[in-house]
Amino acid sequence: HIDREVEQWLSCMTLEEKVGQMTQFSSDRDTTGPSLKEDIEEEIKAGRVGSVFNAFDADFTRRLQQQAVEHTRLGIPLLFGYDVIHGFRTIFPIPLAQAASFDMDAIEAASRIAAAEASAAGLHWAFTPMVDITRDPRWGRVMEGAGEDTLLGCRVARAQVRGLQGSAPDEVDTVAACVKHFAGYGAAEAGRDYNTVDVSEWRLRSVYLPPFQAAIDEGCASLMTAFNSLNGVPASCNGWLLEQVLRQEWGFEGLVVTDYTAIMELVHHGVAADTRQAGQKAVLAGVDMAMQDGIFLEHLAGLVEAGTVSIERIDTAVRRILRVKAALGLLDDPYRYSDPAREQALLLAPAHRLAARELAEKACVLLRNEPCVLPFSNDIRRMAVIGPLAQDAAAMLGPWHGNGQAEDAVSLHDGLAQRLGEEVTLDYCCGVPLESDGSSADDIEAAAALARTSDVVVLALGEDNSMSGEAASRARIGLPGRQMALARAVIATGTPCAVITFSGRPLVLSDLDELPCAILHAWWPGIEAGHALARLLMGDTGPSGRLPMTFPRDEGQIPIHYNAFSTGRPLDPEEKYTSKYLDMPNTPLYPFGHGLTYGQIIYQHRALSSRCIRASESLVVSVTVANTGAHEATEVVQLYLRGPAGDMVRPVRELIDFKRITLVPGGAETVCFVIEAASLRYEDAMGNQRLDDGEYHLYVGGRSDTSDAVTFHFNKQD
Ligand code: IFM
Repeated sequence: HIDREVEQWLSCMTLEEKVGQMTQFSSDRDTTGPSLKEDIEEEIKAGRVGSVFNAFDADFTRRLQQQAVEHTRLGIPLLFGYDVIHGFRTIFPIPLAQAASFDMDAIEAASRIAAAEASAAGLHWAFTPMVDITRDPRWGRVMEGAGEDTLLGCRVARAQVRGLQGSAPDEVDTVAACVKHFAGYGAAEAGRDYNTVDVSEWRLRSVYLPPFQAAIDEGCASLMTAFNSLNGVPASCNGWLLEQVLRQEWGFEGLVVTDYTAIMELVHHGVAADTRQAGQKAVLAGVDMAMQDGIFLEHLAGLVEAGTVSIERIDTAVRRILRVKAALGLLDDPYRYSDPAREQALLLAPAHRLAARELAEKACVLLRNEPCVLPFSNDIRRMAVIGPLAQDAAAMLGPWHGNGQAEDAVSLHDGLAQRLGEEVTLDYCCGVPLESDGSSADDIEAAAALARTSDVVVLALGEDNSMSGEAASRARIGLPGRQMALARAVIATGTPCAVITFSGRPLVLSDLDELPCAILHAWWPGIEAGHALARLLMGDTGPSGRLPMTFPRDEGQIPIHYNAFSTGRPLDPEEKYTSKYLDMPNTPLYPFGHGLTYGQIIYQHRALSSRCIRASESLVVSVTVANTGAHEATEVVQLYLRGPAGDMVRPVRELIDFKRITLVPGGAETVCFVIEAASLRYEDAMGNQRLDDGEYHLYVGGRSDTSDAVTFHFNKQD
């Protein structure tokens, strides 16, 4: 039905109308680059726009839609896109924090809610999921992805696509997803946004591409190209990526849109002499829609008339765009998503806020609790809340917070005040500005004095929320300004102190880690930050997040990730000529997978169902996980694999599965993982699938450096 409908529209269109469909402009509401169109409504009425982004709310989108439907010759409706990255109005934790929950059901539910709210506000298309794997925390966009691990990245990508697209594309509470940024964007040299990417095809295929394929296998409707060049060819005109890998190998039939003005940037990349050549290269490489630069609009008709671009290539692109519109039901009812009543009912619905609070609780990672400060006792009567982020509700939303509003967000201070009630005196002192420029006075003495007279201190430190996200790379990723001086002075008072760290990336926290305190890493927890944090601090619920990215000791260790390749001279502290630094350990401060609970977790009785398997067989690894502590605890049981000697160098270990379990005090559970021979497969540098015979090691435990292994033998001969 859709194909017939699309072909009918296509057969009536002029070349100019087709090129108009291949063009997307931003409304001037919220731009992340040059604003290039003064009067977008005139462009829409002239049939020169197929999609608009950064325009939302039921009334505004209805008005723009009317321009397209009522004033253009064919009345083809617009597609409204937006960066619905971690919620639309109900803002959830940033995606990196969501990944820290290791809870795919909760991530899917958050995406479902985001889609329901966004679609009620007239949106059809979310520029999500962002699946760029990255091993460089200096890169500001780490906050938008799932971190450093490919398996976790694939599972999160699938959960997000399922949540956004729901069970059927024409359900009115779903949106079309857009997996981005294809490809390699997370490997920007030196962590500087938009910088060159040069990675081997082997690493690209084994580390960076699988989450894209996972999103596509899950039915993702569209894909966005990346800004960066990849091995010498910009991603937005990279025919190998867009035609060979995406279309031929993976069979993707959806729509490909560029990132913001990425075609225009081909000139800056130095691969196009002018914008006409840039447009030609992009369309021939496989781009279907140009975001914001208007280059297709300006040049495609001329390129077709000159015979440089075929009309078949244009038709293919327009067909893909119309198919997305048809699948959303827009060709039958252009206004179905712009619904003020649904918008009113859904935005910030209590159930949405509850889901946001629960996910924020699951995302926070207890990095350290020494001495045992947390959870606080209900007997405390005086609490000091100190630090530049303690009262900042707006910051809690984090970057890319859609239509989130500061007044909807709950600060740490306000969440604690509500939780503790009038029986506890809550005092506040900022201590230091978030970033000291030398001109503003510190209040460190006053903060220490307040700490001295309190039963406990909560210290809210971290980045400003503009320090991560797009175009927000940092060379130094420690606590900004004089925050460490504040921490030293407050903790030196001896009053039990819990530090909450906020950021959109892993931080270097080595100095803080040396002080006696608890450190709870909260990322950007979203709209329900204060409520979630208060519940965690008071032990109403326990921390259960695990790091989806390594926290280095020092920026000099970057890139650092748990699944590095084996080297020929592995670290031996006794030997000079081994792979190490002279001035610091190789190990990170907190490894991937790390996260403490309020319980006491021990792993016992690691066992295998068999010591030897063949190609057609599988085996079960089991472990008993017990909580010997006094508090309930949720543990993320992680399974890592190390392969045998083969023809290729392999990572020292790789995450192959995980499970979240909750244990009451004194409780225990036996957790089982099934290992199929297929999960031992990997791709070599030539793109061949390999399956090595030999001795495999399985590490099952609570973080990536867990040491106890069980081994089995694999032999492909049946
Ligand atoms: O979707 C984003 C992309 O991730 C970065 N550049 C701007 C786009 C649209 O806002």
